[in-house]
Amino acid sequence: MGCQHCSEKGECVFNDIVNKVAKNLDEYDGIVLGSPVYYAGPTARICVFADRLFYSIPRRKFKYKLGACVVSCRRGGNSASFDRLNKYFTISNMIVVGSQYWNMIHGFTSEDAKKDLEGLQTMRTLAENMSYVLKCLKAGEKLGVEKPVEEKQLATNFMDGK
Ligand SMILES: Cc1cc2nc3c(=O)[nH]c(=O)nc-3n(C[C@H](O)[C@H](O)[C@H](O)COP(=O)(O)O)c2cc1C
Repeated sequence: MGCQHCSEKGECVFNDIVNKVAKNLDEYDGIVLGSPVYYAGPTARICVFADRLFYSIPRRKFKYKLGACVVSCRRGGNSASFDRLNKYFTISNMIVVGSQYWNMIHGFTSEDAKKDLEGLQTMRTLAENMSYVLKCLKAGEKLGVEKPVEEKQLATNFMDGK
């Protein structure tokens, strides 16, 4: 609801799972968001969770963590949902890991989804790719590969009226 409580207190005014996840964030190497498709988009539940998580804590906390989303639908809307959820990662300096196809599976029920062999393979490949990228990052850290020098972030939305 944009109350900005988080900008003063560093946590969401609604003290639930969002604040719990936020507190443990340093322990996570990555974030996987998963959602069924409702009316060609991710569910309201996952969107409100991610809106609040990504808004209520400083963006630098997500920097260089791995990100992936997985979506599931009966017939249509996976692509739009996949795009929507990836937006949280790509505005947060996260490293989005891909697979052999976009991370989506088809089925009305979980039993149906098990028949989508290509979808299941896409998920397995995603998991392998995430594990591999994570190992590369850790190896890079050990070797002393330097992180990019941060620029001071600009916000040109002309709030000062100039
Ligand atoms: C409210 C609602 C909207 C849905 N919209 C879509 C849709 O746009 N495209 C689609 O392929 N399936 C749609 N479905 C089917 C779901 O994506 C599918 O059944 C999903 O696996 C349900 O997961 P859930 O049981 O965790 O809610 C919809 C289902 C519900 C309940």
